[in-house]
Amino acid sequence: MPKILFCGKGGSGKSTLLAFLALYLSEHHDVLVVDADESNPGLARMMGLDAPRQTLMENLGGKTAFRRSMGKKSAPLEEKDLLGSALRSMAALPSSASSRSGRLTLVSVGKIEHTHEGCACPMGVLARTFIGNISIRPGQWVLIDTEAGVEHFGRGILDGVDAVVAIADPSYDAVLLIAKIKAMADEGGKRLCVVLNKTDGDTESLMRNRLEGQGIRIAATLPQSRDITAGNLRALPLDVDAFRENLRSLLVAIES
Ligand SMILES: Nc1ncnc2c1ncn2[C@@H]1O[C@H](COP(=O)(O)OP(=O)(O)O)[C@@H](O)[C@H]1O
Ligand SMILES: [Mg+2]
Repeated sequence: MPKILFCGKGGSGKSTLLAFLALYLSEHHDVLVVDADESNPGLARMMGLDAPRQTLMENLGGKTAFRRSMGKKSAPLEEKDLLGSALRSMAALPSSASSRSGRLTLVSVGKIEHTHEGCACPMGVLARTFIGNISIRPGQWVLIDTEAGVEHFGRGILDGVDAVVAIADPSYDAVLLIAKIKAMADEGGKRLCVVLNKTDGDTESLMRNRLEGQGIRIAATLPQSRDITAGNLRALPLDVDAFRENLRSLLVAIES
């Protein structure tokens, strides 16, 4: 299950869970994190990395140039021509557009930086094309962070991934969104692993009942943690050691 998409509602903990799993996996494997959230700036810091100097979009000449080269964007084979050879393998990624530490590498698809710069659709095409075409060897992982909601599903990002991890915080909105994500993952024939995040005793059982009542199995949980909140405020990388067991459960579910 090497290419894994992380999704869920805003603030549910998508980036936190992804960063935890990336740090955990990179102890023994090459891991490429693809930041496909066009807005959130905080992912690099959660993993103790600097943000890449350039986004992939900038590396390809910027959004306007990329939009032009998209041309007949609907044909999948033509989409492959949108990427140079450097963006097709983990080892060849240009240092200007990637940030590395040990076996962990981060790239960012593109960010919305200016008022009136237009929609993020070119970023969606680039994300889908990059994820679909990046070649990886056995034992290597690609973890993809997305913005809140299901817009990425509508843009077809699911095509190139092997499994979906959906994060639910304790809220009714999260329950509704997870049901929708399950339907879309089923439609795309992708395995879905649901993580309950920010749980405490009461909310965990309430969420469990709600989701399991809809036939949705819980793959793993991550408790509400003062250390995570404080570490985030201090801009510290996440501490894998505190949640090794939770991460192991998630990995078992992803691989089973
Ligand atoms: N288990 C947790 N305990 C405490 N705070 C958490 C936990 N998971 C995430 N957070 C905090 O919640 C906020 C949103 O998390 P984030 O991962 O950025 O969400 P998303 O990527 O889904 O928008 C961050 O401030 C993060 O530190
Ligand atoms: Mg995020």
